[in-house]
Amino acid sequence: MQPAQVSLNGIDKRFGEPQALRNVSLEVRGGEFLTLLGPSGCGKSTLLRIVAGLEVPSAGSIAIAGRPVDTVSPRDRGVAMVFQNYALYPHLTAGQNIAAPLVMRRLNWWQRLPVLGRAMPGTRGLRAEIADDVARVAASLNIRHLLHRRPSQLSGGQRQRVALGRAMVRHPVLFLMDEPLANLDSGLRAHMRAELATLHRRLGVTFIYVTHDQVEAMTMSDRIAVMFDGEIRQIGTPETVFRAPVDLDVAGFMTHPHLNRWPAVGRDDGTVAVAGTPVPVIADVPAGAGVTLAFRPEDGRLSTKSVGGFVPATVSHIELLGSDALIHARRETADTADGSDRAVVRVAADLTHGLAIGTPVWVAPDAGRAWCFGADGARLSDQQRRAA
Ligand SMILES: Nc1ncnc2c1ncn2[C@@H]1O[C@H](COP(=O)(O)OP(=O)(O)OP(=O)(O)O)[C@@H](O)[C@H]1O
Ligand SMILES: [Mg+2]
Repeated sequence: MQPAQVSLNGIDKRFGEPQALRNVSLEVRGGEFLTLLGPSGCGKSTLLRIVAGLEVPSAGSIAIAGRPVDTVSPRDRGVAMVFQNYALYPHLTAGQNIAAPLVMRRLNWWQRLPVLGRAMPGTRGLRAEIADDVARVAASLNIRHLLHRRPSQLSGGQRQRVALGRAMVRHPVLFLMDEPLANLDSGLRAHMRAELATLHRRLGVTFIYVTHDQVEAMTMSDRIAVMFDGEIRQIGTPETVFRAPVDLDVAGFMTHPHLNRWPAVGRDDGTVAVAGTPVPVIADVPAGAGVTLAFRPEDGRLSTKSVGGFVPATVSHIELLGSDALIHARRETADTADGSDRAVVRVAADLTHGLAIGTPVWVAPDAGRAWCFGADGARLSDQQRRAA
């Protein structure tokens, strides 16, 4: 079976007054792992539910595998959906949960009767086929030994795999997953990330995956669609979205835990002035233009001596993370209300010796890794200066 491509065209969704989605168009390639990433309330689940047919768009159209599905019921779209709360049937065993969609599809109602049904012609053969299919899926998810247990006797990760098994057993052409790992502890989440990525490679099926977790999106996706306020702001490979965010919102969302955002003014010598200090940048900033100079803590540099191009600050907090540390510092500036006086730099833990709260430091971004954003939030190009 060909993995399904999915075309979304001009999707709007209104729930009364609030508009959950605005004119969303998206082409998901066959076999692709595409992640919808964005903050709470940006419309990720709504978009996924529209693809599944669980929600009707206010405008726009959807095609799955080239076939318009706007009037096709959820069960006839050939998609399987896995939710954050896996909604397993508590009174059925894991094996029966996985078998449930096949039982519903392959047996008629009297064949499904607990005792009488078994005596009906053909039931035995169909039940055996279903048991085979369940065993195959369970083996691939490494849960064969758990099939007799009820959901309450399983760990979160095991339940997660049962829910996946129930989705896989129907051989969907498209998997839709809405934060399926959100309820797991961090170790299990990391493990399941790897399992899902492997599963995707092995099945070769199209996945649309919803998360607000940047790490999940980065580690599993072929492409990431970053959403804000019901719109897709940027779509691209994890590398592109991470290294070349289109605007300040995307840059902020793709940075953990804190993006440095310094107000600055363009100069005509390839630097921007940050509270009077000229800091070299690669972006094409017109002289006199007000911009935001932004960089990640890991792309910052710290000195305990005054250096040209480095901005003076004072250490305000030190967070030891293990092998490295985050140094928080305050810049000497009037702009404090919006946090733009903050500088956060990630350094190796042994470099924190001799630093204490109140120590004067000098901070600068690695010019090749810093961005400049214009007043409208859009990232300024760096084509001219990189070419020069
Ligand atoms: N049934 C509904 N009725 C009214 N408003 C709704 C309904 N479902 C969603 N919304 C609104 O639509 C917007 C998008 O919701 P959605 O559930 O798609 O967000 P999300 O990106 O999945 O967020 P989260 O990360 O919190 O799950 C939100 O403002 C939400 O309040
Ligand atoms: Mg959601």
